[in-house]
Amino acid sequence: MTELLPSEPDAEERDALQPAATPGPRSRRDRIRQGEAWRSVFRHPNLDTPRGRALQSFSNVFLHVYPVKVPARVLRMRYSFRLGFIATVLFSILVSTGVYLMFFYTPSVTSAYGDMQKLRTGVGFGQLMRNVHRWSAHLMVLVVVLHLIRVFYAGAYKRPRQFNWVLGMGLFAITLGFSFTGYLLPWDQLSYWAVTVGTNLVNYVPFIGTLLRDLLIGGEQIGQITLLRFYALHVAVLPVALCVLLMVHIWRVRKDGFAVHRGGVGAFAATDAPADATSSPEPVMALTKDHTRSRLLGVVDREVETAEERPVDDTVFTWPHMLVRHVVVALGTAAVVIALGVAFAAPLRGVANPDSTPEPAKAPWYFVGLQEMLSHFDPLVAGILLPAGVLLVLTFLPYIDRNPATEARNRKVAIVAFSIILIIAVVATVVGLAFRGPGWKFITPWNHSYIEM
Ligand code: HEM
Repeated sequence: MTELLPSEPDAEERDALQPAATPGPRSRRDRIRQGEAWRSVFRHPNLDTPRGRALQSFSNVFLHVYPVKVPARVLRMRYSFRLGFIATVLFSILVSTGVYLMFFYTPSVTSAYGDMQKLRTGVGFGQLMRNVHRWSAHLMVLVVVLHLIRVFYAGAYKRPRQFNWVLGMGLFAITLGFSFTGYLLPWDQLSYWAVTVGTNLVNYVPFIGTLLRDLLIGGEQIGQITLLRFYALHVAVLPVALCVLLMVHIWRVRKDGFAVHRGGVGAFAATDAPADATSSPEPVMALTKDHTRSRLLGVVDREVETAEERPVDDTVFTWPHMLVRHVVVALGTAAVVIALGVAFAAPLRGVANPDSTPEPAKAPWYFVGLQEMLSHFDPLVAGILLPAGVLLVLTFLPYIDRNPATEARNRKVAIVAFSIILIIAVVATVVGLAFRGPGWKFITPWNHSYIEM
């Protein structure tokens, strides 16, 4: 950074940073941009030079999220498929649509369902906002899971990103918590029974299961206290927790360096490479200690080389290269969820009725895999020991998996084990979601669908 920003800006930059600098502005636009009011807000100079771009980043709070320069490979879609960024965009959409919904919703068992009905007809854009909120929530769970999978297969959880992976697992848990607490709020049959099935899973926790469930739902069965607790968690506790964790997560991405293979510098970046790294980086300059070079006058040792060895600068300015891509992805994500919101209405069944259990009563889709496993194995094993074990191992994976290699061919055990768990989870979810009907009997979804979202 100090290379990019010398302590004293030159005359041109100083001029651009001062209010009302040059006399005789050429156009109205220039006059505004050189006026005191504009410069009091936008302090950075508008110089299309490397120094100008660096100064723009340093003096803009939002651009501070990004490093001034990023490795060019980060710009490629296949580096991360922008999944972390898409999750961030979805979270922003959820906050804005959620705040709009809050204006018209009271967390009371007597009015919650009625508020949902009013959103359909009595509130401007109410139904659309609800639809976009719901589909964004489902999509966020999916995108976060895909992000986790991408980070795993890329080996991006290894040194020095171990702690960021742990933070990511926290974000994953909060994302599920968000979705689950929000599920109850419409107070219809779907939400009531999905949450009943979901919270019943807690009962299987040995010794403290009942206590935990009571703590979560505030009594014997789901009611007013549950609704209020879930609402408080959904609109206050979880958003704050997610914002704090996300802030640290994104900051760590910047500080740890992006996990892209860069020439000649270890697994991902210069700071990454443990001394015994087995990974094979793609070298930019294939020069080694014992390397010799042909010169016009003979063969000389490297020590007496006169040519200077310079690493190739493979970085580009974040502004505009990265930001343009992020704007496009953000607009694309917004377009997708708005299109989904226009095309598909969020479901609203009859008002919640504790005396009438629907058949089948399914947990929300991301927990339905567990419900499916419970129908095959002992509840303690399928409902608690297995999922808790997998979560625990996943959370501390970077400290368990000590193999420093990042490419697939050198980490077959981890990849095979992770893939097996992933396949089981996906198959159980798909079977539970689409192939189960009344009495948890096997059905074919093309004849009768019981898929509830
Ligand atoms: C609310 C959920 C999450 C959000 C919004 C989020 C956001 C982000 C963003 C914006 C990045 C930058 C690069 C990229 O797009 O991949 C990133 C990278 C990263 N994320 Fe997440 N993330 C979330 C959840 C997770 C989860 C569940 C994990 C894994 C357990 C995880 C682990 C990581 C790691 C290790 C990196 C650095 C990878 C690299 O540099 O290539 N994140 N995340």
